[in-house]
Amino acid sequence: MSVRVVRTAAELRGFDGTIALVPTMGALHDGHVQLMKHARPLAETLVASIFVNPTQFAVGEDFSEYPRTWHEDLERCEEAGVDVVFAPEVATMYPHGLDDQVMVDPGPLGAILEGEQRPTHFRGVLTVVAKLFGLVRPDVAVFGEKDYQQLALIRLMAETLCLDVDVVGCPTVREADGLAMSSRNRYLTPDERTRAVALSQALDAGAAASADGPDAVRAAALARLADFGVEPDYVAVTSPDLGSPLHGAARLLIAARVGKPRLLDNRALTLGRAPEGS
Ligand code: PAF
Repeated sequence: MSVRVVRTAAELRGFDGTIALVPTMGALHDGHVQLMKHARPLAETLVASIFVNPTQFAVGEDFSEYPRTWHEDLERCEEAGVDVVFAPEVATMYPHGLDDQVMVDPGPLGAILEGEQRPTHFRGVLTVVAKLFGLVRPDVAVFGEKDYQQLALIRLMAETLCLDVDVVGCPTVREADGLAMSSRNRYLTPDERTRAVALSQALDAGAAASADGPDAVRAAALARLADFGVEPDYVAVTSPDLGSPLHGAARLLIAARVGKPRLLDNRALTLGRAPEGS
């Protein structure tokens, strides 16, 4: 195996040239492999981090059960052309413990949608990503569009805090029936797996109604979810930067619990009708 595994900040020093980083929590699937393949030509050294970040899980969430598949993960990194896997201990990432920390405040964008459901989540995500940027010092970092709000917040953080990292988003990778790939899909029972396709189908139903505006999009998406007996935490139509939708480019975002896992999905839309003759 040619992937090098490093666990400390000191071992990360000494790579010549540009660095691309793909941050992950492990339990790697084809979606992660696509992120790595996308990142591979962007820099001389490709680093993937594998760290299940405790601060982005609230009490009662699945931190201790989060799937840990170390050997398979290393094989996937190898297959995707990763040079270095950075797999730090909790004490490396949180030298002052988990409570006594300087944390990144995600601001108002972190309080809506996922932030309303999981109020401490983005604080933990942004804090660990800022630490990874500080430790790995990447020129470019690649994240999936499946976690669309996370991607928007990381972009905003990099810009606001002048972190000098180019944040790149990659399209969501889907199973053959449309289900967005996620490490948590492995929690689905066979029956839940069948119903989980409701999210991507609701996105398509919403997109098909986009000419009639945001209310029609929401109504179509909600109706499709109801066909599968899936009750969403939210179905939101926003502008691409998660503000109020006006006309034209927009985003449809859905979160729903299907059995144990909470699933997220989203897609781009164009709201309204094109002017006649255009
Ligand atoms: O998307 C993820 O897997 C995590 O939220 C991230 C970005 C690796 C931070 O822990």
